[in-house]
Amino acid sequence: MQIEAAARAPIEIMGDLGSLKVLVVDDEASIREALESYLYHLGISTVHTAQNGKFALEALKTEKYDYLFMDLMMPEMDGMELLNNLDSNGRPMSIIVMTGYPSMEKVIEAMRNGASDFLIKPFRLQDLKISMERVHRLHSLAKKNWILKRQLEQKRQVEKLNQELRAKIREKTLLYDIIDSLSRVNRSDDLYSYLIQKALQVCDASKACFFLYDQEKKGLIALSQKGLDSVPPGHQIALEPDHQQNRCICPDFIKIHFNGTYEAKIPIDHPSFFPELLSIPFRIRQELFGVMLIGGKRNGAAFSQEDKFLMNFLAERTAQNIENLALYDSLKENLFATLGALVSAIEARDPYTRQHSQRVTQVALRIAQAMDRPFEDCRRLESSGPLHDIGKIGIDDHILKKPGRLTEEEFKNIQAHPLIGVHIVSPLGLDEQELAVIRNHHERWDGKGYPDGLKGDEIPLLARILSVADAFDAMNSDRAYRKALPFKHCIDELIKNRGAQFDPKVVDAAVQVLEPYSHE
Ligand SMILES: [Fe+2]
Repeated sequence: MQIEAAARAPIEIMGDLGSLKVLVVDDEASIREALESYLYHLGISTVHTAQNGKFALEALKTEKYDYLFMDLMMPEMDGMELLNNLDSNGRPMSIIVMTGYPSMEKVIEAMRNGASDFLIKPFRLQDLKISMERVHRLHSLAKKNWILKRQLEQKRQVEKLNQELRAKIREKTLLYDIIDSLSRVNRSDDLYSYLIQKALQVCDASKACFFLYDQEKKGLIALSQKGLDSVPPGHQIALEPDHQQNRCICPDFIKIHFNGTYEAKIPIDHPSFFPELLSIPFRIRQELFGVMLIGGKRNGAAFSQEDKFLMNFLAERTAQNIENLALYDSLKENLFATLGALVSAIEARDPYTRQHSQRVTQVALRIAQAMDRPFEDCRRLESSGPLHDIGKIGIDDHILKKPGRLTEEEFKNIQAHPLIGVHIVSPLGLDEQELAVIRNHHERWDGKGYPDGLKGDEIPLLARILSVADAFDAMNSDRAYRKALPFKHCIDELIKNRGAQFDPKVVDAAVQVLEPYSHE
């Protein structure tokens, strides 16, 4: 074989040839010598030779080669056996098979066993260079491909982790939001509408209903809903026991209101999870007290495990909150009852004021109803009315019971009772309007009242209502210094002070409510 000039040019694309190590394995000495000489001429500094597979294995024990050129047909150990004996540690980077008897099966077998390329004898020396370049290119491509694949895999993993992270953040944010917003619900009345609103937000749904469980009647009573106008508060559903005696909801109800397509009955005593519906039981100390149904997930999506997990969390937290509120409500009721009893006791000491606050509250309630005030306002009058004069606890008895005219100082003393009252009830958590009943029930429409000198609409409405009821009862009951004024006279007095002491609209409502009794 002749070394042609062109073939002596360095293999540029392979970089530093001086650092390459090549092993040539062939039983023909002339071929070994020609290849060794050619490879040195290419600039490769380490070229070793071996006469068969056995010697090659010996050489491979002490040196790590980049290229291995090997014949297939050799005595003692042929090329195929050599390939089979190469372990992964001693395996050169690239193996190029040289054979004079090309059989496709042999070549394929050699490639399967790790050969990168093959040369058919006789070949030109520059074919060595071409083969090395080709193998190098293949390795570079394979390496690039491997790197790209690895990067793609890493990118996928990062995206997956990001998705998981985003889902975790959403979940934690929702959990925090549930805890945080529940801690701000401090009235039982607000709790159930909060529950509905939160369930719809958490599950991205459009329909939800909270039912109380009626253990005696084995039924459900709707308490609060959204998106289900045909299920008003108080709507009752009888439960059908199934064969295992598990409680369940009549499937017709689900079909009608939640567009369910399944026939299965919905058990209410454990969380149930259907594509179109989520059913979450609410328990206090293991006892079932309610169930929430959520349906109409947006964009026709199905409910997920995450929805179920979050709703269970909401149910558990709410149960704790309901327990606390019930405890608080009962404490609050006790305090109200105690203070109410205190007011009654004070009023009872003076025969002229006995039961005054209770009567005032009743008249105020009738006026509020005649004015079409909402239920909430009536409830406020019921809670704050009996306590409107509780501040009188702080006023000396001799002033309260004084039959004659009060001195200026005594009158100032009496005028302090609304503010003393507000101070006494402040720990009860009354709302602004309830407090206003106690603070402002002595304000006058013309601004000449006390303690704040408010005028007209500046005076909170419930205080204006109680003021009329208070004045009416004061006129209509006996006093130490006079007998009760006749009923008709009291009404005339209210009318006379319409627009001066009293809100004209409240007087009109009071006259409407009281007049029928004036003929009794
Ligand atoms: Fe008063």
